Order: sequence, then C-alpha cells, then structure tokens
Amino acid sequence: SADRFDAFRALADRRGRPGGRLIESLAEARAGTADSPGTWAPAVATGLGLPAAAALGPAGYYADLAAPHGRRHVRVCAATACFAAQAGRHLAEVEHELGVTTDTVSPDGETSLQTVRCLGYCYTGPAALDGDTPCTGPTLAGQLAGHEPPRA
Ligand code: FES
Repeated sequence: SADRFDAFRALADRRGRPGGRLIESLAEARAGTADSPGTWAPAVATGLGLPAAAALGPAGYYADLAAPHGRRHVRVCAATACFAAQAGRHLAEVEHELGVTTDTVSPDGETSLQTVRCLGYCYTGPAALDGDTPCTGPTLAGQLAGHEPPRA
C-alpha cells in the first residue's frame, strides 16, 4: 500500500548512502511478514533510490531475508553438532511445541520457524534463537514454549 511505501522512504531518509543501508532496510522490511521478497523488496529499492534488482537479489539469496517471518520468528539449528546432540529429535519437539512446521509460518501469521546452519552455540546445543534470545540444551523445546526459562 502507499502507506507501506512511505514507511520505506522514511526509513531510507533516516540512513546514509543507499547501498550501505540496503541489507539493514531489507531485514527491517522482512520482519513480521510471510510475503515473498518479490512483494516487498522492490518497494525497499524504490525507497532507497535503487533499481528493484538491487534489492531482489540479496532478498532472495540470503536465507534470513528469503525465509517467511511471523511476528515471532524462531531460528532453530539443524547443523551437525545440534543434530547429533539429540539425534535430531529437537526439530520435531520444537515443531510440536510451537505448532508450526519448519520453514513455514503458522496460519495466523504469529509464529515462524526457520532451520539454520549453526548459531555459534554448538558446545551447548541443540540451539535456537527466539528473535534475538538464545535458547539451548535438552530443554530447548520447553524453553521456546515458555515452560522453561531461556538458557544459553
Ligand atoms: Fe548448532 Fe553450531 S551446530 S549452533
């Protein structure tokens, strides 16, 4: 909508050189939307005075930008150390507790679950990021469900 384009232009105005703020602007636009990058990335480019392709390229390439986001976005690690910690059970447990399958958004748009390759918590996995909050260990699914306090 026109309001959304205005928001992108205002965002661009608050920042410096267009190319230097592209990724940050794309990440801000990505947050909370399940829409594919093709529906919002061109507006970001327009707001920054760039061609649409300059935004569509990175928005489709980087997994964090390409993955659909709900209002709550959870990244769960599926790389070797975390997978080995519980033979991969943590993925099914997290899906069950959050009621959303990996790499999708819940039907109400509230929660999204993205599988990622390593979050830097390999020593205490399995690991996930609930927004910016790390959660790790055998109680990972319970932490994400709010039954346990987050721990990293
Ligand atoms: Fe999962 Fe590194 S392998 S955090």
